[in-house]
Amino acid sequence: MSLSMAPKDSSWWVFTLPAFLGSKILVDQYFILTTLSIFLSLALLSYLLSPGGAAWKNNRTRLGRVAIPGPRGIPFLGSLLSLSRHSLAHRTLSALASSHPSRRLLMAFSLGRTPAVVSSHPQTAKEILTSPHMSDRPIKHSARCLMFSRAIGFAPNGPYWRLLRRVAASHLFSPRRIAAHEPGRRSDSASMMAGISLDQSLSGAVSVRKHLQKAALNNITGSVFGRRYEGAEAAELEEMVREGFELLGAFNWSDYVPWMTFFYDPRRISARCGALVPRVRKFVAGIIDEHRVNKRENVSYSDDFVDVLLSLDGDEKLDDDDMIAVLWEMIFRGTDTTALLTEWILAELILHPEIQSKLRREIDDLVAAKEGELTDADVAGLPYLQGVVKETLRVHPPGPLLSWARLSTSDVHLSSGMVVPAGTTAMVNMWAIAHDPAVWEDPLEFRPSRFVAAMGGADVDVRGGDLRLAPFGAGRRVCPGKNLGMATVAMWVAKLVRRFEWAEDAASPVDLSETLKLSCEMKFPLSAVVMERNVLC
Ligand code: HEM
Repeated sequence: MSLSMAPKDSSWWVFTLPAFLGSKILVDQYFILTTLSIFLSLALLSYLLSPGGAAWKNNRTRLGRVAIPGPRGIPFLGSLLSLSRHSLAHRTLSALASSHPSRRLLMAFSLGRTPAVVSSHPQTAKEILTSPHMSDRPIKHSARCLMFSRAIGFAPNGPYWRLLRRVAASHLFSPRRIAAHEPGRRSDSASMMAGISLDQSLSGAVSVRKHLQKAALNNITGSVFGRRYEGAEAAELEEMVREGFELLGAFNWSDYVPWMTFFYDPRRISARCGALVPRVRKFVAGIIDEHRVNKRENVSYSDDFVDVLLSLDGDEKLDDDDMIAVLWEMIFRGTDTTALLTEWILAELILHPEIQSKLRREIDDLVAAKEGELTDADVAGLPYLQGVVKETLRVHPPGPLLSWARLSTSDVHLSSGMVVPAGTTAMVNMWAIAHDPAVWEDPLEFRPSRFVAAMGGADVDVRGGDLRLAPFGAGRRVCPGKNLGMATVAMWVAKLVRRFEWAEDAASPVDLSETLKLSCEMKFPLSAVVMERNVLC
């Protein structure tokens, strides 16, 4: 057969079409129903055979010696509805994981088209967080719109991200830098306590959160921007930060079902991000310009982070948009976590007056034995205070799912025999681990002494070394602000407990219900009655 004949032969079916089209078969209802039911059966079969749901088709849960178990959810959406229906995803995932021991190790589920795994076990959590193939993060639509793809938290693992981590580690978060900004932290807590006193005397009770958030914002702008804000400027900054928190923390369907972007955006996330970005850019660019005018030749430990970023040169030099993203992220990350954690601590201390008294005794004893104000070093050496902070991090981790997930860049082989395929979103349910009776005795009890060696407890490392309690994450992407966060919270609590006695506001009793936004916060902000003590702080 000559080659020229081939096309003619292979198009034979074209000539048969009229016969088919004219045939009754195509329009025959029976034929249509059969075809449809075969198609549906195949779809159902592939769905039923995919533990973890539709995003895990082609046996991707079975890459390893041991398959990853998981709920199938519903076709197309996977587990999205059950996770978005109410906002406490950490509790829903924990309940799903506790239905079978192997699900605690690792559980697969589908977020629309996105394959995801969640670990609720210290060993698997450690392997996930410390794997070199898990050093990237999936980036949400709102984070990309808000310029965070160039900031530390979302920058892909690579030279740019390593540069930012290095610069931040040595110039913003190093022990010397944290110590150099101690006077600023002290004056922020003094203003916070004055505000609390005033509120109590004017209204007979104190809405605590706004005082903590103001102090947290000033604490972080002090070391990042080199200044603190009052009046209209403070209000504008607070409003931008609040809007950004809400946008970043909001559940957005289009992150998981991209085609929904075009017609379903009930919270107007894209439009609101579009409106916020120019305001942020103008605000932060103004600060960078002010620093350019007063540029210093050599930066020292007491200089702010803008000075440090401006001093980078050569390959390390950042353009203005990168600087805006990095600075803005620090304001975001540094504000809510410390304020909300302190609010949880005060709520627990009000509910447990005996723990509050024991803590006050420890602080009073220290102040009696020394001269001058409390320092970071003093509070770091108070075992019961550290126990109170750690126990609150255990019971109310600010990021119960560690806030920002990881993304696998290669297949990750776990010691359990399971394999997490490349391209999977991976989460650690720190809340589930911290509430697991197999890991913690009486996990629902608030008992700071479990962390105090002299009281029969164990001095657990909460900064990423022990995955039974790692509220700051672990591995290469562990929270770089962990020391600053711990120092700030411990200092505030020591001062607030020394200066005031904290009691319940009868008109608004303490309610420990949670709401999960960017951080997990008290659903009903804490209102308390404070009694001033006649002491020096
Ligand atoms: C109580 C206080 C805080 C808690 C509980 C907390 C928690 C976390 C967690 C869980 C992560 C993800 C870690 C991982 O993936 O393994 C993280 C990342 C991060 N945190 Fe914090 N954080 C706190 C305070 C701060 C502060 C004060 C700052 C800065 C001023 C900060 C800046 C960051 C940044 C930039 C990242 C991203 C790191 C990266 O991806 O390389 N955090 N934090």
